[in-house]
Amino acid sequence: MQITTIQFSTDSSAVATIQTDCLIVALNTEQPIAEQLPELAEATQGFVQRMADAGELPRTAGKTVTLYHPTGLGADRLLITGTGKLNKMSDQVYQAIALGAGKALRDSQAVRAHCLIPRLEVAGRSPSWKIQQAALALDHSDYRYDLTKKPKDDAPPATASVSFEDLEGAGAAVGRAGHIATGVRRCRMLGDLPPNICTPVYVAELAADLANDIEGLEVDVLDEDQMQALDMNALLAVGQGSVNPSRLVHLRWRGGSADQKPIAMVGKGVTFDTGGISIKPRELMEQMKFDMCGAASAIGTIESIARMGLELNVDCVVALVENMPDGKSYRPGDVITAMSGKTIEVQNTDAEGRMILADALTWTARNVEPDMMVDIATLTGACVVTFGHLATAVMTQDDELAGELLEAGLEAADRAWRLPLWDEYQPLIDSTFADMRNIGGSGAGSITAGCFLARFAEGQRWAHLDIAGSAWRWGKPESASGRPVGLLSNWLINKVA
Ligand code: BES
Ligand code: MN
Ligand code: ZN
Repeated sequence: MQITTIQFSTDSSAVATIQTDCLIVALNTEQPIAEQLPELAEATQGFVQRMADAGELPRTAGKTVTLYHPTGLGADRLLITGTGKLNKMSDQVYQAIALGAGKALRDSQAVRAHCLIPRLEVAGRSPSWKIQQAALALDHSDYRYDLTKKPKDDAPPATASVSFEDLEGAGAAVGRAGHIATGVRRCRMLGDLPPNICTPVYVAELAADLANDIEGLEVDVLDEDQMQALDMNALLAVGQGSVNPSRLVHLRWRGGSADQKPIAMVGKGVTFDTGGISIKPRELMEQMKFDMCGAASAIGTIESIARMGLELNVDCVVALVENMPDGKSYRPGDVITAMSGKTIEVQNTDAEGRMILADALTWTARNVEPDMMVDIATLTGACVVTFGHLATAVMTQDDELAGELLEAGLEAADRAWRLPLWDEYQPLIDSTFADMRNIGGSGAGSITAGCFLARFAEGQRWAHLDIAGSAWRWGKPESASGRPVGLLSNWLINKVA
C-alpha cells in the first residue's frame, strides 16, 4: 500500500472536492459536524448532521458506516468511523479507530482512499504521530495472508494507496510509516507461513534475498558445520532432532558512522516447536509455527530501518532451528556445554528458546561487540498467563534501556511492561550437575527464563523481550501481529532523532 500526502490549498472546500474512491472520516456523536469537520458539514448539505441527529452515526471507536455516491463530495464513498466517547480518547482508541476504518476500507471495492482520521485530537500527539499511526493501522487491516491460499474471485482488492493531508511533519511521517509497514508485513508473513515451508533454511534464504535487494544491507549465514566449529552446542542440540538443518543468520546495516558501535537485535527463530522429547500436548500445537516470531520481528525491523536509510548501525542475529522429537534429539538429563563454556542441564527439551538464545547472545556479544543488545523471543507460556496478548514483557537490569524500550512501545502503541530480574531469582535455575538447568521451579516462569539468558549477556548492556503473548493475534482472522516491529523501529529511530 502506497502512503502519500496531498498538499491542499487553504481553500476550505478542498475536502469536498477530493477525487478518490473513499474519503475516510472519524466523527464523534457529541459535537455538531460543523464543529468537527466544517468542510464536510457544508459540502454534504447537512445530510451527515441529519444522520447524527437521527442517531445513525456509529458510537463505538472503529465501528463504521459507508455511504456510496454521497451528495456534494468528489469521493465515491464516504467511510465514517465512530470515535467512542471523547473523554476516552487515547493512543489505543485512536489505533482502534484507524484499524476499524481500515477493515471497512479493505472490505469495500475502493483501492484509493484519502484519510482524515488525523484531524482527531489525541492528547499529546502531533500531526505526524497521528498520520504515522493511522497509516500503519490502515496497512495492518489491509494485510491478507495469501501465500498458500488463493483469494476468492469476488474478494475485494487490496488498497493501492492512501493519502493524508500534508500537515506539519507529514512528509517524514508517511515515509517512515511506509517502511515500518513493510517491516510489519514481513514479520506477519513469516509468522503466518506454515512450518513445512518456513524452515530455518527458508528464513536464511529470505534474509539473503533481502540483503540482495536492499543496498547497504549485508548478510552472513552460518551452517551447522560452522556453528559446530564455534562450539555452539546449545543451539545445535535443539536442532539435532530435526531433518531441517539449523542456521544462524547475521544481517548488518551500517547507516551510522564507522566508529559507532552497533545496536544488536537477537531473535528466537524456532520454526516449529513440538517441545521435542518433552513433547507438547496435541491441542493447538499447530500454533507453534509462530515460535519464530522473535526472529521475524528482528528481520522486519532491520528491513524497515534499512529501507528508510536510518543513520544508525544495526545488527540482527537470528537463531533458526526446529525442535522435534527423534532418535537423535537432545534429552532431558543431557548436560550441554554452551559456546560460552557454561554447562546447562536440560530438564525440559521444551525450554528450547533459551538454549538457542544462549549461544546466539554469546556469538553476538563476541562478534558484533554491540553498544547494547536486545533479544526478542516467544519464550514462555507464563508470559501469556501474565499479560494475555496486550503487553510484551521487558526484562533487563539496565533501567535506562528499560525506559527507552517502554517509551518506544508507548509511542508506537505497541506496549511493553517490565518484569523484575532480581538476583534473588537466580538460584531457581541452579543445577546439581551443571552450571545451571534450563527450567526454574513452578513459579515466575518468564523471569527464570530471563535469568537464564542474563547469564549469557557477557557483561553487555542487554534486555530481553518476551513476546509470547503479543506476537500472535488469536481470534478471527488469527494472524501474526507484526509486534514488536513498531516498538523496535521506534526505539531505533529515537536513537537518531
Ligand atoms: N515457545 C514456547 C513458549 C510458548 C508457549 C509461547 C505457549 C506461547 C504459547 C516455549 O518454547 C516453551 O515451550 N516454553 C515452555 C517453558 C517451560 C518448559 C519451562 C513453557 O512456557 O511451557
Ligand atoms: Mn518450547
Ligand atoms: Zn519455543
